[in-house]
Amino acid sequence: MATAPCNPAPRPAADSSTLSERDFARIAGIVSKHTGIKLPASKHLMLEGRLRRRAGLAGFASLDEYCDYLFEEDGLKDEFQHVVDVATTNKTDFFREASHFDYLAGTIIPALLAAQRTIKLWSAASSNGAEAYTIAMVMAELARSQAGLRYAILGTDISSAMIESAHRAIYPRSMLAPVSPQMQRRYAMFDKGVGENGRARIVPELRRKCSFQQLNLMDASYPVDRDVDVIFVRNVLIYFEPEVQDAVVRRLWGHLRPGGHLILGHSESMIGTRQGLPQVASGVFRKDRT
Ligand SMILES: C[S@@+](CC[C@H](N)C(=O)[O-])C[C@H]1O[C@@H](n2cnc3c(N)ncnc32)[C@H](O)[C@@H]1O
Repeated sequence: MATAPCNPAPRPAADSSTLSERDFARIAGIVSKHTGIKLPASKHLMLEGRLRRRAGLAGFASLDEYCDYLFEEDGLKDEFQHVVDVATTNKTDFFREASHFDYLAGTIIPALLAAQRTIKLWSAASSNGAEAYTIAMVMAELARSQAGLRYAILGTDISSAMIESAHRAIYPRSMLAPVSPQMQRRYAMFDKGVGENGRARIVPELRRKCSFQQLNLMDASYPVDRDVDVIFVRNVLIYFEPEVQDAVVRRLWGHLRPGGHLILGHSESMIGTRQGLPQVASGVFRKDRT
């Protein structure tokens, strides 16, 4: 069986091969089955561009050659995770949909303080970690005035590339723009680079609060505690079919402790309302205490 070249040969300057309808449909079918992500025909060009980049990185002379390798030479087994990685959209930001973090800091956490136990938070489609580290910044700020506030944050994502990136916790300086100057000083270490070259790394104290692991929301069960206080699952359900959305929400709901909160992206809140979950703020659902 052929394997992906280990020492990538330089690619020709221009690869004009295209992703055939047939190969697009094959990949879309595989991706949808494994990840739940729909890839309608409108994503053809997007997938083609990303696969072409992957083909180049893996040392193939063209996208055609890469597709031959995937489908004619059984290369999909080796390339599977890369294909999943290219099919996922990982756009994220620090303090994205900021009202959820205000609600976390102003309402959810104050109500948990009396319990005096470790508060568990889960970013269930964490991309490169920006959401998990935003949660960590919010919790660290609260901990400044609440001695003894203990918390642990789990970030999970299907993309191994994103999990690696979250572990590294290094971001372009520009990504930190939504973080207040005060929090930037406390929680990010900037290198000397400027403009496009500038980078910042999340401080070790926050990195220690966050753990990351690969997890597919399509799996029938999740290897995660079932007494989580707050689950963020934002801007991922939109990529799924309605029945998959409902199944994922039901599974995540089962991981919340009574009184716990599930937070969906603003454009996804109708998934919770459709299931009759009690909504306490935009996109925020609270499990009954019973
Ligand atoms: C657009 S990002 C959203 C990131 C973050 N939650 C936010 O709101 O900024 C969607 C993430 O969902 C992940 N994802 C897609 N399908 C998934 C699945 N089946 N299981 C787990 N993660 C998945 C992608 O890899 C991607 O990193």
